[in-house]
Amino acid sequence: MILVFIRDFGIYSELLAHDISIDKIKELAPKGIIFSGGPNSVYDDGALKVNPEIFKLGIPILGICYGMQLMSYDLGGKVEKADNSEYGRADIEVTDPNAVLFSDLPEKQYVWMSHGDLVTKAPEGFKVTAKSKNCPISAIANDEKKFYGIQFHAEVRNSEYGLDILKNFAFKVCGAKANWTMDDFIEMKIDDIRKEVGDKKVILGLSGGVDSSVTATLLHKAIGQQLTCIFVDHGMLRKDEGDQVMKALNKDLGVNIIRVNAADRFLGKLKGVTDPEKKRKIIGKEFIEVFNEEAKKLNDVDFLAQGTLYTDVIESGTNTAQTIKSHHNVGGLPKDMHFKLIEPLRKLFKDEVRELGEKLSSTHDLLWRQPFPGPGLGIRVLGEVTPDKLKIVRESDAILREEIRKAGLQEKIWQYFTVLPGIRSVGVMGDGRTYDYTIGIRAVTSIDGMTADFAQIPWDVLGHISDRIVNEVDNVNRVVYDVTSKPPSTIEWE
Ligand code: XMP
Repeated sequence: MILVFIRDFGIYSELLAHDISIDKIKELAPKGIIFSGGPNSVYDDGALKVNPEIFKLGIPILGICYGMQLMSYDLGGKVEKADNSEYGRADIEVTDPNAVLFSDLPEKQYVWMSHGDLVTKAPEGFKVTAKSKNCPISAIANDEKKFYGIQFHAEVRNSEYGLDILKNFAFKVCGAKANWTMDDFIEMKIDDIRKEVGDKKVILGLSGGVDSSVTATLLHKAIGQQLTCIFVDHGMLRKDEGDQVMKALNKDLGVNIIRVNAADRFLGKLKGVTDPEKKRKIIGKEFIEVFNEEAKKLNDVDFLAQGTLYTDVIESGTNTAQTIKSHHNVGGLPKDMHFKLIEPLRKLFKDEVRELGEKLSSTHDLLWRQPFPGPGLGIRVLGEVTPDKLKIVRESDAILREEIRKAGLQEKIWQYFTVLPGIRSVGVMGDGRTYDYTIGIRAVTSIDGMTADFAQIPWDVLGHISDRIVNEVDNVNRVVYDVTSKPPSTIEWE
């Protein structure tokens, strides 16, 4: 979230692992560094540490929560277990009127605390700039070195002036300028792509989703006909989606696309498979195989482009984040793949990808389609995937999308779709008993897909959607609405 906010201020920022090398930092030459929070204690065995040389680079640093504890510990302060872990709202008082992080902000404000350890002695050269009842050292500052720490989480909504504190660090301490725009990004990327690719050829696997479509548009703008997209239609796309993608990208924009209809092949491989991770892996592997077979038919291709986003990279497991799901566009490349990889969206979040797409004049409707997972409807049919079940999900999903659009909620809800949990229940239709499937509706609001809240769709809209689904989709007699957030759920059901 910190990253998203900093970018929203118009400042380019990146999320990097704690063990980044000092040389790499020097090469990137950032105006400032933020150590984010984390669940560790500095005393834990596997605690994430930084190279202490980082403190000699002369670059301003802000440590947030664990980040402040780490900085204090590394610089000779004292970190101890708090008598009582503190989770939730706390009132702080700014104790230093000259504290730059709090400049132009009220002396008393509420913040969000979430910590088990505390800094009990600030390192030498630091002053304490804020306190709370349970946390006498809530913020520290070393103006000479431009090192700052806050024990609370400025990046959450529940910190009253959190964003202002981040702004003070970015603009006042680091002297950053709000001059990063999507136009800059496009120019920079087009330039990078042209330099990297030269006169060579690039292929791209189009999955039908927003990310690969935007990647295709960006590459097309950069290298035109040197790009060929292979659109593997795995038979698990949404209703009419394949044709829409072909129209928007191929017919209207002139992007080279080879469409491969491989539904039977995918369904064959998925026969009898019920485990979600296995399904994901099979679909991912098959996608690559079909793709490879097509790619081999093309000559002289050096590069492979992918629509990988930041969220995919983070969630598929970095050194420090646990693998939640194997996202099928990351890390799934076979070892013998001889292409060089280009992932121009790797540093972007979904909303930024849409903004990028709008700037590249991709059609608005294409961009505002739902984020769609690589494995497609295959992970929305829970358990074994069969043509009949796919049909149920596809038809119910089309109704949901149509009604959400009619209700004017299309751009208010981040993602919405139907799932087929495979439960059958008793119903009554006309005079007869039915024993049919249940459809689940999942609709969430989110900024980046990392966390999400269930969307509060008006009851009458939901009621109407439910009516249409049970009336128009064969073998469905019940519709339920998923009211869980992420976490603890994920957005997709598999
Ligand atoms: P989860 O279910 O992990 O989903 O909360 C977060 C976002 O990622 C999408 N998703 C995927 N996207 N390949 C993708 O490109 C995948 O394998 C994949 N799995 C989930 C999901 O639709 C949501 O937007």
